[in-house]
Amino acid sequence: MKKVFELRNVSYRYPAGAVLSDINLDIYEGERVVIVGPNGAGKTTLLQILDGLLPARGHVKAFDMLLDEKTLKSDVMYEFRKRVGLVFQDPDVQLFSPTVLDDVAFGPMHLNISKDEVLKRAEKALRLMGIEDLKDKHPYNLSGGEKRKVAIATVLSIDPDVILLDEPTADLDPKSRRELIDTINTLSRKGKTIVTATHDVDAIPELADRVYVLNRTVMACGTPREIFTDIELLKKANLEIPQIMRLFRVLECFGYNCEKLPLSIDEAIAELTRTVETEGGHIHLHIHEHTHSELEKLKSRFDHH
Ligand SMILES: Nc1ncnc2c1ncn2[C@@H]1O[C@H](COP(=O)(O)OP(=O)(O)OP(=O)(O)O)[C@@H](O)[C@H]1O
Ligand SMILES: [Mg+2]
Repeated sequence: MKKVFELRNVSYRYPAGAVLSDINLDIYEGERVVIVGPNGAGKTTLLQILDGLLPARGHVKAFDMLLDEKTLKSDVMYEFRKRVGLVFQDPDVQLFSPTVLDDVAFGPMHLNISKDEVLKRAEKALRLMGIEDLKDKHPYNLSGGEKRKVAIATVLSIDPDVILLDEPTADLDPKSRRELIDTINTLSRKGKTIVTATHDVDAIPELADRVYVLNRTVMACGTPREIFTDIELLKKANLEIPQIMRLFRVLECFGYNCEKLPLSIDEAIAELTRTVETEGGHIHLHIHEHTHSELEKLKSRFDHH
């Protein structure tokens, strides 16, 4: 598989102080990678380095190009901008035109394509985000969730190979969040490489082939299952587990024998189906002598997190 990003011993400091150090990271073509970590961990900084916006120290390679200070100021970044798009954490940074349509058409307008094609691309992006009815509105007058959707559309209209998303589900209502996750996965199936920084642990099993746990440096990297079943890591990184996984941990206190802890609804359906089928058509739960103490322990661990 081709590498899209390769970072070796990368560090970054703002004038106020060091933020990232000794970052080693690889992202491959077509992968869905999630970056998770507490507030101030450096997720946004890292995405901006991947987007070629911040000159970091160390080895940052995107495709086959070294992103050093000289490259970042050179014309080759024009091609790079067509291939990599970042949706900012703060949508206000991304929206500056008099109408939503102008904002979403802004990227394709700089791609050397016909006006018709620009409009087609913009309308397709609006449709993908389900916001055609917002197109004549002033971005300033939108709700938080609407702004988020427009900001995502401004990047989708460029149709980049690599999409970097900084907290894309923040401010979205449950239905919009669900639709966005589906849209991201549809784009992934079309071959896009998708890197998402998020606190939304419930979304991680649905948005990640691989997860990087970040706190100023890379603390761990693995599949969602590897990350969420590493109790020591969860404690060290102050990381929550998905709700569905918590529920099955609770069921275990009631004697449920879980073969493989489900991380998502689909996995929960598979797990429950397996149990019902192998245990004669029903699921057996009971309160045993350790149920209450195990539940207490479990709850204090969740609270601790
Ligand atoms: N422009 C800046 N100048 C100085 N310090 C900054 C700047 N931007 C971020 N920082 C600092 O760098 C650290 C990492 O910030 P960053 O925004 O990358 O974290 P994050 O993981 O994205 O956090 P969050 O989950 O809150 O979005 C923070 O301590 C922050 O205060
Ligand atoms: Mg951030």
